[in-house]
Amino acid sequence: MPKRDLISPDDLSPDELTAILDLAAEMERDAPGDLCAGKILATLFYEPSTRTRLSFESAMLRLGGRTLGFADAQTSSVAKGETIADTARIVQAYADIIVMRHPIEGAAKVAADYASVPVINAGDGGHMHPTQTILDLYTLKKLKGTLEGLVVGLCGDLKYGRTVHSLAPVLARLGAKLYCIAPPELAMPEECLREARAAGAVLGETPDLDAVIGHLDALYATRVQKERFPSSEEYERVKGTYVVTAALLSRAKPDMLVLHPLPRVDEIAYEVDDDPRAAYFRQAANGVPVRMALIAALLGLAHDVIAPEARAPEPSAPGRARPQAAREACANPRCVTNHEHHLTPQFAPVPDEPRLVHCMYCDHEVLA
Ligand code: NCD
Repeated sequence: MPKRDLISPDDLSPDELTAILDLAAEMERDAPGDLCAGKILATLFYEPSTRTRLSFESAMLRLGGRTLGFADAQTSSVAKGETIADTARIVQAYADIIVMRHPIEGAAKVAADYASVPVINAGDGGHMHPTQTILDLYTLKKLKGTLEGLVVGLCGDLKYGRTVHSLAPVLARLGAKLYCIAPPELAMPEECLREARAAGAVLGETPDLDAVIGHLDALYATRVQKERFPSSEEYERVKGTYVVTAALLSRAKPDMLVLHPLPRVDEIAYEVDDDPRAAYFRQAANGVPVRMALIAALLGLAHDVIAPEARAPEPSAPGRARPQAAREACANPRCVTNHEHHLTPQFAPVPDEPRLVHCMYCDHEVLA
């Protein structure tokens, strides 16, 4: 049986992404409460979560389906050393669709390669968070009418934050313009910005939020990802760099949106919550209709939303030929290939960069 997975936003064609956003709007207006009757969604969460896991479960329950899973990997066989590949092959017999969050980069791709049912990446380390990206786009489109020409400031931990890694290229593709606002230690990795840069969508990169706040149509604030820092000293040096306050907002456009994937630590002062521009709680609520649309589409229950088979065959699927001679290992210590040693590292060319190849699991780039 062909199946589709959602590991990166690139797994959806531009038309499919539009169709998902339209379906989410339909789901929000009038959800078909029995569409997923008889179907089971598994949530395998190896990392903390409130919004993502509960909104996936809420979405499935609202569609008439059922859910099972774990929110603490220490209560599962992972604690006994089970691999992601084996867990995926077991859970495919218990559920019709799998949602996985894991601290290791490329983990969801491994689950997708081994499971016969659709796999949705709910965050793989500092790599990607595609469903957050889709709900961010949904929120911007709903509140601003269009993404074309919108000036969005991505602010905070752009180095370790997976939400912005997923979001930046898609925003650029849809016609938005970007400011990247971060201290040099937390700058966006070049590979996440390459596409936006090539499209002329990066208006500036600066550590100075105050200098650009007046130009923004939306400010996307992010948490400094404490759990991904190599040492607590490095985290202590940069934590609390940005705080969105009422004083800062007095210098912003009167209709600039404040977004945040949440949870916030201290990036947005509580006084901002009552400002009509504060959109982060509405953004979190949009996770339910967006995830309803994704579940329905990937289960093949929403006709004409996504094609039953991915556009190009996934060259890294088990048993397929390697696109590039394998190296010893991926240079990224957080890559799944350095944690699950039965996997063969695989690399593919970087478009328009003949000198570079990227890891097909974690996207880390190295010289070819
Ligand atoms: C984000 C995540 O897990 O990456 N949270 C979420 O899913 N809404 C952001 C974060 O943890 O800072």
